[in-house]
Amino acid sequence: MAHSRILGTGSYLPSNVLTNAMLAERVETSDEWIVSRTGIHARHIVSDEETTSDLALKAAEAAIQSAGIDKAEIDLIIVATTTPDMIFPSTACLLQEKLGIHGCAAFDVQAVCAGFMFALTTAHNYIKGGMASKVLVVGAEVMSRVMDWEDRRTCVLFGDGAGAVILGASDEPGILHAKLASDGRYKDILNTPAQISGGKIQGIPFLHMDGPAVFKFAVKALSDIASSTLAEAGVDKSQVDWLVPHQANLRIIESTAKHLGMSMERVIVTLPQQGNTSAASIPLALDHAVRDGRIQRGQTILLEGIGGGFAWGAVLLQY
Ligand code: ACO
Repeated sequence: MAHSRILGTGSYLPSNVLTNAMLAERVETSDEWIVSRTGIHARHIVSDEETTSDLALKAAEAAIQSAGIDKAEIDLIIVATTTPDMIFPSTACLLQEKLGIHGCAAFDVQAVCAGFMFALTTAHNYIKGGMASKVLVVGAEVMSRVMDWEDRRTCVLFGDGAGAVILGASDEPGILHAKLASDGRYKDILNTPAQISGGKIQGIPFLHMDGPAVFKFAVKALSDIASSTLAEAGVDKSQVDWLVPHQANLRIIESTAKHLGMSMERVIVTLPQQGNTSAASIPLALDHAVRDGRIQRGQTILLEGIGGGFAWGAVLLQY
């Protein structure tokens, strides 16, 4: 059976940077509060013209170049996003059109901050099942569009961006094991509950979060799924070279690493300058560490993410 392996990575951040000091001019907060509770110093925010598919395009082009493939070889596009350009067509179809390739299957996956784990696992299974051989997997978000910029409890946490990988069929092992989970009973602690009906937005179109409840749930769920993914793969945590976690909050990342018994020296952290970019955060962090030379071919990498739903997952791979 074919293995699936990451052939290349790419990412993109919009050029506008919003610092904690700039936020403190808009809402009652301070750099000290934000840094001490979250570890975030700044985040990138799209311009009025930029959309999720624009960010996805830039990340995808970088991943295609890094994989050294021709874009015409891509036979499946999966975009993880919770902030699509429009209700339909999917952002994956819009991205396909912007890339100038046509005909291959393209669809979106919605699992909020865990979206990239769901998209990568889906791509892996398409390859294993012989239905695709070069998959463009993207996590892209404009979380700034679902922020209430007067709500200091949420607007300080999120940012915009995109990350992408090309996952290809390979004789060499790549993805070793993946595990996903969801529990809709937690729908009320993290959501954006608006609907469109009768030509109007019904309900609140901003992200709502019960921060302490999310914190508690996230640490336990991430620790459990990371441990069980390793156990089922027969890989000891000492064999993991790098943990690439969803970048929600430094305290969640540190607590999860501690539960796994991993020192922070083996954890990729991009959160301070990016904030929480939801489905984009894991591929952004992965690309960052590949490009700065920390992540190298042959190393064992554990990716893990959690988001609203709740939905969470982990992917163990050999890079
Ligand atoms: N600046 C100043 N004060 C603030 C701010 C802010 N930006 N935000 C909240 N506060 C205030 C609150 O109003 C509250 O004041 P009060 O006691 O007078 O009412 C006080 O700080 C404490 O509020 P808490 O919500 O209890 O603060 P907490 O210590 O729990 O920290 C935080 C909040 C950082 C959100 C924390 O709960 C957390 O990290 N939760 C995890 C959530 C997370 O990371 N979500 C990301 C999205 S989900 C995901 O990606 C999985």
